[in-house]
Amino acid sequence: MSGREPLLLAIESSCDETGVALVVGGRRILAQAVASQIALHAPAGGIVPELAARAHLRWIVPALAEVLEVAGVTIPEVDGIAVTAGPGLAGSLLVGIAFAKTLAWAHGLPLVGVNHLEGHLYAAWLLDPDEPERPGPPFPLVALVASGGHTFLVEMRDHLAYRLLGETVDDAAGEAFDKAGRLLGLGYPGGPAIAAAATGALRHDAVLPRAWMGDSYDFSFSGLKTALRRQVEGELATAGRPGNEAGGRLDTSRVSELAWGFQEAVVDVLAAKTLRAADETGAAAVVLGGGVASNQALRARIAAGVAARGLPLFVPRPGLCTDNAAMIGAAGWHRFVAGERATSDLAARPAWPLIRPAGAPATRRPPRRGTAARAYETALAAERDAAGNATGDPIASPTRGGAR
Ligand code: KG4
Ligand code: ZN
Repeated sequence: MSGREPLLLAIESSCDETGVALVVGGRRILAQAVASQIALHAPAGGIVPELAARAHLRWIVPALAEVLEVAGVTIPEVDGIAVTAGPGLAGSLLVGIAFAKTLAWAHGLPLVGVNHLEGHLYAAWLLDPDEPERPGPPFPLVALVASGGHTFLVEMRDHLAYRLLGETVDDAAGEAFDKAGRLLGLGYPGGPAIAAAATGALRHDAVLPRAWMGDSYDFSFSGLKTALRRQVEGELATAGRPGNEAGGRLDTSRVSELAWGFQEAVVDVLAAKTLRAADETGAAAVVLGGGVASNQALRARIAAGVAARGLPLFVPRPGLCTDNAAMIGAAGWHRFVAGERATSDLAARPAWPLIRPAGAPATRRPPRRGTAARAYETALAAERDAAGNATGDPIASPTRGGAR
């Protein structure tokens, strides 16, 4: 369509939410739908990949139909299609990619493959349908993305240009919340459950360890999870109750106190490193994204810190922190207007890192032994193949970003 900014149809199916959105000019959401699979995976206490892929298949067409109807838009009016190509669950990614390719082919529309993590960053630029216009985040900025699968800090000096400051060396923050939720018998997903339990804590003296990782901007949450498990098991043993993963056998009041202590430990580290990064890089703004950024304690802590520094904070409303397609439309727009196009061999990239220019050595510490190491190598090999075959691969551009 002419006379206005490009309208992108965006599709997200990397994990356990089926998302479809229409986004104008990389910022304004016309309509969006997110079909959540939380209830589907809750009985298993975590995401079951095969169920996730089937649910994407079930809901992706109704989600598209709903979005088109709400916006009053037909597919030929769309200028392009943006789809999450990775990282994520291979089977889930494939559903969205196959769907997007089919639509693009059938309607003769350009297609762009988007990195899910870039989507989480770009959620901070989104405007809801009825939200007043406001400027987007200014550069340079520091952004924290904390989700179920990833936790990292980047500096952005311009659009699509990232310098990795630090990342988790083991669990992602959301993964730690989910494991802690299981330990405390709070169910899945653990993040919102822990946050809710923590608000009921009457005592605020449960102190769990923080891994500061020296002066680095890296994170580590596995020690905190172990400390919580030992604490729960110790208290259950003292109380003479059977100790297993069902920490819910602790009194509700104690579960709340430990949930508070756990949340506090995670928030403390995430907030301190983000604020220090803003100071040390001379950031003009701070951006938060990812499911954990919907945590009110984290938002409040970072909001207080940036206010004290006179900096603006850009944090999406909670529904745009967790997985959604609008953020893919925001990030995809920048790729789209830069002329990037995916071809019909666009492949799912389950381990696609946000930042790794061609030829740069990976600085990420890969798992050294066992099944994790083999899975990592297989994913990397598949990714190298995909990168070799793809045209217009955004990540293969040596002009972008820092080393990773
Ligand atoms: O970004 P997201 O929707 O999916 C991934 O890309 O991983 O993040 C999901 C993660 C889950 O681990 C969930 O427990 C966590 O975000 N989460 C929260 C909150 N809401 C969701 N963690 C802490 N507090 C919350 N309020
Ligand atoms: Zn996500």
